Amino acid sequence: MSEKVKVVIDGITVEVDAGTTILNAARQIGGEVVPPAMCYYSKLAGSGGKCRTCIVKVSKGSEKDPRPMPKLVASCRTTVMDGMEVQNITSPEVLKARAGVVEMLLINHPLDCPVCDQAGECHLQDLSYEHGLQQTRYEFERRTFDRIDIGDKIQLHMNRCILCYRCVYTADQITDKRVHGVLNRGDHSEISTYIQNVVENDFSGNVIDVCPVGALTDKTFRFKNRVWFTKPVDAHRNCNHEKCSGKVTLWYKGEDVLRVTARKDQFGEVEDFICNECRFDKKKTADWTLEKPTEIEPTSVIGSNHYDTFKPLPVINENLALQAANKRELEKSTKI
Ligand code: SF4
Ligand code: SF4
Ligand code: FES
Repeated sequence: MSEKVKVVIDGITVEVDAGTTILNAARQIGGEVVPPAMCYYSKLAGSGGKCRTCIVKVSKGSEKDPRPMPKLVASCRTTVMDGMEVQNITSPEVLKARAGVVEMLLINHPLDCPVCDQAGECHLQDLSYEHGLQQTRYEFERRTFDRIDIGDKIQLHMNRCILCYRCVYTADQITDKRVHGVLNRGDHSEISTYIQNVVENDFSGNVIDVCPVGALTDKTFRFKNRVWFTKPVDAHRNCNHEKCSGKVTLWYKGEDVLRVTARKDQFGEVEDFICNECRFDKKKTADWTLEKPTEIEPTSVIGSNHYDTFKPLPVINENLALQAANKRELEKSTKI
């Protein structure tokens, strides 16, 4: 049995396996204390450490060495120590720094939400609402790119890319041949294929699902509808592809299946990767065994007006986090 360590995140104690990252420890608590993660993806080895949205404050290093860490750390890359104390939503310093990270991510980002297929399920859009400024302070011209067709089913709109590398790891680890990657460095970095190589692989469509923004989109769904007008339904089929789970979400508009995606968990991550045949070629209800309406987070715009029963909001954790924040404020104000 692996060794257990105790960590306190925003006043909530959790016991996790030694070697767990702060982010995953927070995910075990759930709710508001979980830092946002734009590049880390639990199913992709090596992911994380790129975007800095998951930064937290380590106010106590461990029981053995209680000194705080000198600067904010990426929670997806920092492992917990026994007795560690971490602040996320209870630290104004973290919230301010995260707002700065979001501002940075948006520096070159276009104001495309009204026409972007990712709108309504975009993590950058959510972050901008939560931490973003009303207007940009950036005075220079934004960098722009031509759209690139990566095969006949996927389109890359590089203007919206935040260089999280998830699609690169997906192509590396889920497909058997990667033909795209991050080219160039610094302000010239871009996701690209050499001479627009077609990504021809049974699992290439998964790059669409892992992309946290609208940079990689499904051409068979582009501009067909806004996601919040569609109704997601869990379904499965017996798929012949060895690595494909055959478990999907069908996105209905009336009787028509407009798109097929892998199912996602509460953190917006794919539960099981699916093959291109399930994703692009099976768009009839008769192809699938329907299960139930997909569970939608109560905060998601996709759930608006669809269902009566939602997963309850994680009120208890929120209250605990608030209690912790109040306690800290009280301690501060009573310090001599
Ligand atoms: S990627 Fe997200 S934030 Fe960017 S335009 Fe699309 S919906 Fe808006
Ligand atoms: S295209 Fe999407 S998944 Fe790939 S690096 Fe850019 S934002 Fe990340
Ligand atoms: S999620 Fe941790 S740095 Fe991106």
